[in-house]
Amino acid sequence: MIAEAAYFTRQPDWASGLARIASTGFWRSLNPQLHLTDTPFSGPAQPYSVEPAQVSQALEQVCQEGYLQTAPAIPTQLCEALAQGVLNIIAAGLHPIYVSLYDEYWQILRNLAPIFGPVLGDGYLPLGDFWCWCISQETSGSGWGAHRDYQFKSNATRQDGRPLLVTAWLPFTDTDPLNGCMYLVPQDRDEFIPDRLDQLGFKNPQDLRALPARAGSVLAWNQYVQHWGGRYSRWAKGPRIATGVYLQSGDVEPFVGKVVHFDQPLLPATRLGFIASNILNYHMYHHYPEPVLRMCFDHVQLLPNFVELVPPALRNPMADYLDELETAGG
Ligand SMILES: [Fe+2]
Repeated sequence: MIAEAAYFTRQPDWASGLARIASTGFWRSLNPQLHLTDTPFSGPAQPYSVEPAQVSQALEQVCQEGYLQTAPAIPTQLCEALAQGVLNIIAAGLHPIYVSLYDEYWQILRNLAPIFGPVLGDGYLPLGDFWCWCISQETSGSGWGAHRDYQFKSNATRQDGRPLLVTAWLPFTDTDPLNGCMYLVPQDRDEFIPDRLDQLGFKNPQDLRALPARAGSVLAWNQYVQHWGGRYSRWAKGPRIATGVYLQSGDVEPFVGKVVHFDQPLLPATRLGFIASNILNYHMYHHYPEPVLRMCFDHVQLLPNFVELVPPALRNPMADYLDELETAGG
């Protein structure tokens, strides 16, 4: 079984344990160091302090090389709380992506305005498209293989090179080549950009760039940059725990119907729906066992526009499942 799916099946009674996922009380007691409310954005924003030189480098770099990286901006204590959250979730027999249920996860995205405001424009928005990884000897032995995030076949940069959509990649632990840090090919060294985005590869290994990063650093890349996570070595000093989440400019149409507004509530049910839709989106690669799919079918319906968010290949199995439920109930 693929590591992503195996997170769910580590305990003998794993299938019945999936029912816990819908309980906010379960999540609050699992990670008392984190919070889960209906309104993660009700308090004032607390933008992180970022040196102006970091911001101007980030902006210049994302336009030229297609990605940016800053020094740590997210407070260490918060990174530790989220990393511990991920470890507790794994120990409970669930997937690290569930750390995105907690308010702190979303508050970080708002507090990164000093970086993403200049890059994406004021009024940038997170999308409910995200994933979380824990690369270690016991969990997943490597990050995802080389790919471009080029998921939306529309132009995802402005004339001046600024992105309209980025994958923000945030490590909650220190990451380096030994624990599977990110690698990429800067876009100005990638012969396949812009016309042959369906191809991957490089001519010269010197064009690759390893991106070791301390916990709390901010990385982001546009839709075109090819990137991958490295492999875990037995000599690594600790797990690589990180998340990737889409952020988009506020002055263009949503790239996907899972928009988060910093001035509105974000109900736990909505977050569960987002997570379910993300797991379903990757089912074709990860092959989740049927009880996990069924749980996701239940949760994705918490989103009003869920039909468009279920991958076409899964719409029939989902319809069959809903029929089955109706028959059993009626
Ligand atoms: Fe990616």
